[in-house]
Amino acid sequence: MTQDNAFISFRNVNKFYGKFQAIKDVSMDIGHGEFFSLLGASGCGKTTLLRMLAGFESVSSGEIYIDGQPMSGVPPHHRPVNMVFQNYAIFPHLNVRDNIAYGLRKQKLPRAKRNDMVEEMLELIKLPEYGDRKATQLSGGQRQRIALARALILKPKVLLLDEPLGALDKQLREQMQLELRALQKTVGITFVFVTHDQEEALTLSDRIAVMAEGRDLQVDTPTRLYENPKTREVASFIGTMNFFDGTVTSLKGDTAVIKVDGLGEVSASMGAVPLLAGDSVNVAIRPEKFVLTDEKPDGVQYCVKGQLNNAAYLGERSHYYISVDGVSKPVAVSAQNRERAQETETQSRPVWLSWNSAAIVVLKD
Ligand SMILES: Nc1ncnc2c1ncn2[C@@H]1O[C@H](COP(=O)(O)OP(=O)(O)OP(=O)(O)O)[C@@H](O)[C@H]1O
Ligand SMILES: [Mg+2]
Repeated sequence: MTQDNAFISFRNVNKFYGKFQAIKDVSMDIGHGEFFSLLGASGCGKTTLLRMLAGFESVSSGEIYIDGQPMSGVPPHHRPVNMVFQNYAIFPHLNVRDNIAYGLRKQKLPRAKRNDMVEEMLELIKLPEYGDRKATQLSGGQRQRIALARALILKPKVLLLDEPLGALDKQLREQMQLELRALQKTVGITFVFVTHDQEEALTLSDRIAVMAEGRDLQVDTPTRLYENPKTREVASFIGTMNFFDGTVTSLKGDTAVIKVDGLGEVSASMGAVPLLAGDSVNVAIRPEKFVLTDEKPDGVQYCVKGQLNNAAYLGERSHYYISVDGVSKPVAVSAQNRERAQETETQSRPVWLSWNSAAIVVLKD
């Protein structure tokens, strides 16, 4: 995604509320038809960014472009966007049909045309029989779908969704995630989706912007964010990550030889980070990239002996915590429970950890 083929562009956008800076120099591009998520902890500026895109909030400096047009001075109702809010405000005194048609009331449409559009929306959200239901006689998930239909009927080019699934329980939430994704593919419009739930962002998105304290830390596909985080902050925000301290001893092409505390000498691809011999680095390895064995393994690239001191059984997989000499925190390892087990063996015992260079992510200290 470049600025040239972007549908939405943020260029050096800053936002101040008085002296407090809520958004700090954000630049990013969102493609046409993309399912794009803003992911970050509470208070990092996700809603602020969305509200500036919708025009409910002004930018303090910088510019937002939609379809090549600068949005400064363009009021919300003249922007090709529509927003679905965190606590889906559907009107309790209206039935489902009138709720969905609400935004159309200012457009002078023939009644028959309007009814057709509503029926089409009811089909799309898989509630075809619900037109006459009162809004108060709906489940949370159904209400959420009505809120979506009410936004989609106006055929916006961009739909902004601020934690639309936040109020739903886990099961309904997972079902709605799949429906939302399918719906987005059907209608083909650009979604900008806000969540603080990393699993939700990974499941739904084409790309994700990871945010912290008003900044965009990394914008990437779910796979690249997980497998190739660019900073320690992103690596620890998405999933679980083990970090080890290391020093670069030599370089050969784009491979670095690193002396790692507790693990010994490893070689790993530098990726995007330019390194020099003598640099202090963080070596990062995901828990599932380690293999745990009771005996010293044969034919592996790297292995180290440790002491299992904690285990947790989670059904499909188990988590193990292994202390290794020279490593300050226990190493987290996760393993799929392929064999049907009688009991997870939790008693402390010596174990071997093995891994290979492809598992290693090198991050500058
Ligand atoms: N109108 C305002 N005046 C002053 N500060 C504000 C205002 N709106 C938001 N803020 C502050 O800006 C920061 C970002 O707020 P924002 O609502 O964008 O966070 P968020 O990422 O959406 O958080 P959450 O996940 O809790 O919804 C917060 O520190 C918040 O307190
Ligand atoms: Mg918010």
